[in-house]
Amino acid sequence: MKKIGFIGLGNMGLPMSANLLKAGYIVYGSDINEKAEDAFQKLGGKISTPVEELTGICEVIFTSLPSNKAAESVYFGKHGLIEQSSNKCILIDTSTISPELHQKIEKAIEENGGQFIAAPVSGGVVGAVNKTLTFMAGGSKTVFDQAFPVMEAMGENIFHISEKVDSGTITKLMNNLLIGYYTWGVAEALTLAEKSGLDLKQLFEVLNVSYGQSRIYERNYESFIAKDDYNPGFTLKLLIKDLQFAMELSEQQQVELPISKTLLANYQKADAKGYGDLDMSIVYKMIQEHNNTNKEEERLV
Ligand SMILES: NC(=O)c1ccc[n+]([C@@H]2O[C@H](COP(=O)([O-])OP(=O)(O)OC[C@H]3O[C@@H](n4cnc5c(N)ncnc54)[C@H](O)[C@@H]3O)[C@@H](O)[C@H]2O)c1
Repeated sequence: MKKIGFIGLGNMGLPMSANLLKAGYIVYGSDINEKAEDAFQKLGGKISTPVEELTGICEVIFTSLPSNKAAESVYFGKHGLIEQSSNKCILIDTSTISPELHQKIEKAIEENGGQFIAAPVSGGVVGAVNKTLTFMAGGSKTVFDQAFPVMEAMGENIFHISEKVDSGTITKLMNNLLIGYYTWGVAEALTLAEKSGLDLKQLFEVLNVSYGQSRIYERNYESFIAKDDYNPGFTLKLLIKDLQFAMELSEQQQVELPISKTLLANYQKADAKGYGDLDMSIVYKMIQEHNNTNKEEERLV
């Protein structure tokens, strides 16, 4: 496999496609944002090939998109990937979108004689840059095996969950439900620690080798909170999207998750305050600010 397509060259898609280029693949990129395409071209990627032509050129096409709406448009839109799907080109969606949409995409692609797996990723922008992503793939094992070497050029742990196309997606939603908990937990614990006079750097050194340790504590503290820089990373809006999908799943499965429900409502409140486009670790700042102002006037959930 030599020619790869990559649609969605954002925080994740750009470094992922950069690793494909480094691995020697010819990569055709596409994004609705010109700046993203420019950055990709500077890395050696090919742009300006219409999406509808990519399935005729590429052996594998990856998508990395921010929402169900964007994925609907890329797959089902006029001249979209489904219309053009063929058994010569494997389509792989690495976005975290709803399990239902992954089922719908698989069905439509298979009806058109094409091949699809849904393979959401974890590991963040750092993992995308350092080629250490975890892939959680659902769908045909045969297709997964064919595409394995290409995914290996972008990640370290490549899992096939099951033949069910949304099995990787659901696995990813469980991952992000836990990320939601850890991120909020770190924000509250660090706010209380600081108010109580602890040094956050020392606290991190101690807890990082204790049971309070987590990869999210490490990520959120070292890369964002300690630097007081909340440029994303993984935006609060994207986390909310994933928590919403997880809550929809809990309703479908008739599983009551009371704390998760409250957690989502709190993140939505943070979004309503205008923090949505910043990294999710910004909730630390929000809780800190909330505690420095009149708590009675404005309650968190
Ligand atoms: N950022 C992370 O840490 C992270 C980690 C794991 C998984 N994810 C998931 O990966 C996906 C992408 O995340 P991201 O952080 O890179 O988001 P992003 O918003 O930075 O990038 C998405 C890109 O898709 C482009 N796009 C939107 N609609 C498009 C369309 N119709 N056609 C072509 N391009 C289009 C946007 O212009 C943007 O460049 C999301 O589903 C997210 O949940 C993100």
